[in-house]
Amino acid sequence: MKRIELNSEKDTLDLAHYVAPLVGPGSVITLQGELGTGKTFFVKALGGFLGVPDEMDSPSFVIFKEYHCGRFPLYHLDLYRLKSEDELLDLGLLDMLESGITVIEWPEIAKDFLPYETLRLHFHLENGKRYVDVYPDKSLEASFE
Ligand SMILES: Nc1ncnc2c1ncn2[C@@H]1O[C@H](COP(=O)(O)OP(=O)(O)OP(=O)(O)O)[C@@H](O)[C@H]1O
Ligand SMILES: [Mg+2]
Repeated sequence: MKRIELNSEKDTLDLAHYVAPLVGPGSVITLQGELGTGKTFFVKALGGFLGVPDEMDSPSFVIFKEYHCGRFPLYHLDLYRLKSEDELLDLGLLDMLESGITVIEWPEIAKDFLPYETLRLHFHLENGKRYVDVYPDKSLEASFE
């Protein structure tokens, strides 16, 4: 795990700028962290660096949104309101994971379906200080709890 301080929005933009060239179809990124810790801010920044032409907003109420980025889709999911793994599969999660870049806020309910290579970012805001813990894969399963 690597911990990175995010002292300003620019730091989060820089992180997205660093991640963008590393992802492609089949890539999965999960974003953990409490309300308002910057998960959606990060996805919007990532979309910008991947060339998503549309304004991205939070998918909280619709569970997922699809954007075009180059020749493949960027799927932005927010699973906060989802109750069961069946609902998740009905959304077409498995097709998304294969065909595009999939970025998932509140990913806990999906953890059993995600590839080992999932890049996990866990955002924190404590005493006004922001930071993110970066896990390169699923090997530290405990922090999904
Ligand atoms: N360093 C930073 N990185 C990211 N966002 C920041 C930072 N500093 C301030 N912010 C602000 O914090 C807010 C984070 O909100 P955001 O919607 O991204 O949170 P979230 O984690 O997606 O919350 P939710 O769980 O409700 O979806 C944004 O309004 C953003 O402008
Ligand atoms: Mg959000």
